[in-house]
Amino acid sequence: GPLVDKFKTSNQTFHDGGIIKIWPPGCTIFAEYRHHAERVRQFTVRQDDVWILTYPKSGTTWTQEMAWLLLNGLDYRTAMDIPQTMRSPFLELGCLVNEAHRRAANIGDTVHEVEMLQSPRCIKSHLPLQLLPEQLWTVKPKAKMMRFSPQIIYVARDPRDVAASYYHHHRLFFGYTGSCEDFIEALLAEIVPYGSVWDHILEFWKMRHEPNVMFNTFEQMKKDLPGVVQRTAAFLNCTLTSEQLKRLCKHLSFESMKNNPSVSHEDEMAKLRGKSTNLNGKIEPFMRKGEVGGWKQDVTPQLEEKLNLYAQKKLKGTNYILSV
Ligand code: A3P
Repeated sequence: GPLVDKFKTSNQTFHDGGIIKIWPPGCTIFAEYRHHAERVRQFTVRQDDVWILTYPKSGTTWTQEMAWLLLNGLDYRTAMDIPQTMRSPFLELGCLVNEAHRRAANIGDTVHEVEMLQSPRCIKSHLPLQLLPEQLWTVKPKAKMMRFSPQIIYVARDPRDVAASYYHHHRLFFGYTGSCEDFIEALLAEIVPYGSVWDHILEFWKMRHEPNVMFNTFEQMKKDLPGVVQRTAAFLNCTLTSEQLKRLCKHLSFESMKNNPSVSHEDEMAKLRGKSTNLNGKIEPFMRKGEVGGWKQDVTPQLEEKLNLYAQKKLKGTNYILSV
């Protein structure tokens, strides 16, 4: 319809990268993805993998940094020296856009890169449940004493904050020149990449009692980072002294991550700035605000009402609690 067209035309990189499509039914994903879907579904999962699964803009980078450090004996030196995108790769990145775009953006065969990664792997994906590797739910430990693997850390965030953050992300990475209002309308119509944010969250909410699933929220991390770090450490079979916990929380603070080039995506942003055609106002950095409730500044009262109605509709019949 007209909304889809409006969204597409103000979203320049989708033109060369392949226009998003509803595929499979119920999931909005980049058109290119269909060529890779089967390979990802059949991807070989390892017992000692840790998977960081989120809808975009929900605190992925934050959680990856926490999990990677816990898994790697708090090796801050490597964490600072090697970009997070290499330590904890984004599984389907190379599957989202066509080859020409991949070459231009210097993106390789990311699925292969993850296949070649040494254990324990800390893998990032935004795929909805139905597109993720089947083995995530079938690979079990060999011995009784071993922890149930692979471990999944899901992170949810208030979709209203996701909506605002995703709008800024589209401006930064995809050259989106449309209004915030049009973007949020597209999100409500579930035609943005990765489709419905509520469906994504609720599918994993249903799995939260599985022994290999930890369900975290951005809001909990803001409210009580040490508590979340400790629970995650326990989930990953690590113990932390109070000194170690303190240092890790400091490393994970917004200020520290904003100034840490290994996680701030500053390099990619600098490249984008060089060729940016988006002259429509200020472009916010990746580490933008890191707040709960900041969406209110981007959203008109009419849109707020629409976002709330959307949540009500999606949450009907579920026992999901928005922790704000
Ligand atoms: P905002 O755009 O609201 O600032 P993702 O990594 O899933 O793309 O999520 C990005 C969002 O997480 C951004 O939100 C970013 O600022 C926020 N973020 C990243 N690291 C953070 C931290 N250490 N503390 C708080 N927020 C953080």
